Amino acid sequence: MIHQDYAAGMKVLHWVLAALIIFMLYLGWTMGGIENLVERIQAYNLHKSLGITILALMVLRVLWRAVTPTPPEPATMSGMEKLGAALGHLALYGLIFLIAVSGWALISTSDKPSLLFGQPFPLLPWFVDLGPDEKKSIHQTLAAVHEFAAFGLAAMIGLHVLATIWHAVRGDGIWSRMAPRFPGRGAAVALAVTAAGSVALLGASDARATEWSVDPQKSAIAFEATGSGFVTKGTFKAFRSEVEFDPAMPEQTSVRVLIDVRSVSTGQGDVDQALLSPDFFDPARFPTAEFVARSAKPAGKGKYVLEGRLTMKGVAKPVSLPFSIATSNGAASVKGETVIDRLEFGVGPQTVAGYAVEKDVKLSIDLAALKLTN
Ligand code: HEM
Repeated sequence: MIHQDYAAGMKVLHWVLAALIIFMLYLGWTMGGIENLVERIQAYNLHKSLGITILALMVLRVLWRAVTPTPPEPATMSGMEKLGAALGHLALYGLIFLIAVSGWALISTSDKPSLLFGQPFPLLPWFVDLGPDEKKSIHQTLAAVHEFAAFGLAAMIGLHVLATIWHAVRGDGIWSRMAPRFPGRGAAVALAVTAAGSVALLGASDARATEWSVDPQKSAIAFEATGSGFVTKGTFKAFRSEVEFDPAMPEQTSVRVLIDVRSVSTGQGDVDQALLSPDFFDPARFPTAEFVARSAKPAGKGKYVLEGRLTMKGVAKPVSLPFSIATSNGAASVKGETVIDRLEFGVGPQTVAGYAVEKDVKLSIDLAALKLTN
């Protein structure tokens, strides 16, 4: 008997690609609406990374098809049906390549950074070398191509599924030769890894002002407290921030910084331990401190004042944070300093072990940010 099945590897590739592509259509159409900036960026980068993965798998699939014979169509299919199937498959392949390559060109003409599974994204040479105006207009065309091709692909997938159901009902063997056979362990593992990877990575627009991505590795939130002439300096190692700021419209600024107070570090173990006690930050009850500002005022060249609200230990107080910003090539360095009264937030007693500790604590920020939108 002639073996009519597709090779097991070819089947795995088909079903992994099917799952990835359907997930990508869903992700593409929903990622712009993710409210949390960090999660939105992560979703975009996941989309871009999986898109390149699809492109690589499609190249593999085409090469594989070129060297291994496809099982012949059943004799029950008419000439017209065979032609329809061939054209349908060609359109599916063409659209997938068009979407993936236009997506790659899209990010190669963008001034926002992209990450390929956490690494700098290799961009397409010809597009990268274009001037800013050319990039902008090509970028818009590419976005339209990417979007319309995605609609076309969704429609073609719909037809493909209907045709498959038709073949399955007719029982002509077309469905069963590509149907997953469990335990096709390879397929199960590949699908599980894809799903787990997607879920694990998912977690990253329409901007009013420019959006910035603050790099926590190159940024610091620090404090300085003085007691009996001794200065204690420390930092918060873990924080998350969402920043929308445009020097041309500072009143549209939106800043939200969430600090994990457990990440406090002074370099002295016993001091850190004291700071994590209920008398000081009490992280068991108040794990995060939050700074939110919805407006900034100009205060001289490159200088502004954020008028915000700091919430610590459940106490919210207005806080002004003067800062300076220096930008170059889509990157910004932001430095600011303010003084807060720790006793207002119930952080620490007035004296520690008999030593008077000043109520005023200096807070400073030193942020490195990358521009995400114009
Ligand atoms: C088969 C693979 C892919 C599919 C099915 C897909 C699908 C989509 C869809 C449905 C959208 C939303 C379109 C809209 O309504 O605006 C989208 C947007 C986007 N995709 Fe893809 N995509 C793929 C590959 C890629 C790749 C490889 C990249 C980059 C490396 C990429 C980058 C983008 C970007 C940057 C956007 C946002 C466009 C904008 O809003 O300006 N995509 N994609």
